[in-house]
Amino acid sequence: MTAAPLIVLVGPMGVGKSTVGQLLAERLGVGYRDTDEDIVTGQGRTVADIFVDEGEAAFRALEKQTVHRALAEHDGVLALGGGAILDADTRGLLAAQRVVYLSMDVEEAVKRTGLNAARPLLAVNPRRQWRELMEARRHLYEEVATVVVATDGRTPEEVTRAALDAL
Ligand code: S3P
Repeated sequence: MTAAPLIVLVGPMGVGKSTVGQLLAERLGVGYRDTDEDIVTGQGRTVADIFVDEGEAAFRALEKQTVHRALAEHDGVLALGGGAILDADTRGLLAAQRVVYLSMDVEEAVKRTGLNAARPLLAVNPRRQWRELMEARRHLYEEVATVVVATDGRTPEEVTRAALDAL
């Protein structure tokens, strides 16, 4: 039998997937894994460096491979990078999982990540780029979600509690 994650976390960059994921794993007494960390460890480079050196398409190919491997191997809480749901095969695999979509509105997103230059997709005009990202992706997050947990104005502890209650 293959392992299956207990909970998969999806949602935009900066929404708190790592923090909430670690809290969820602690509460449930299971392991936590993060596909961005898998990529950084495997490549020995930051995500930003991979974008600069090889471009977004190469990063997405690496991400797809990494996500599919983690879905097959990990049996705890698994957080996916914000763009992992862009891949249709990945969305297909997520149909069989318990998926928590952590959502936030555009202004909250700008507030949380606007000045963070380490995020390659927000380097030019964070507010406009956030609006476009959310418009392009919101329906994809909703498509794979078992439950949606809004994070606006909530602490990571409150979000974790809400996710556990919703599942
Ligand atoms: C991305 C999200 C990032 C990282 C990369 C691209 C995206 O992950 O994978 O910068 O396309 O939304 P986090 O959501 O963990 O920040």
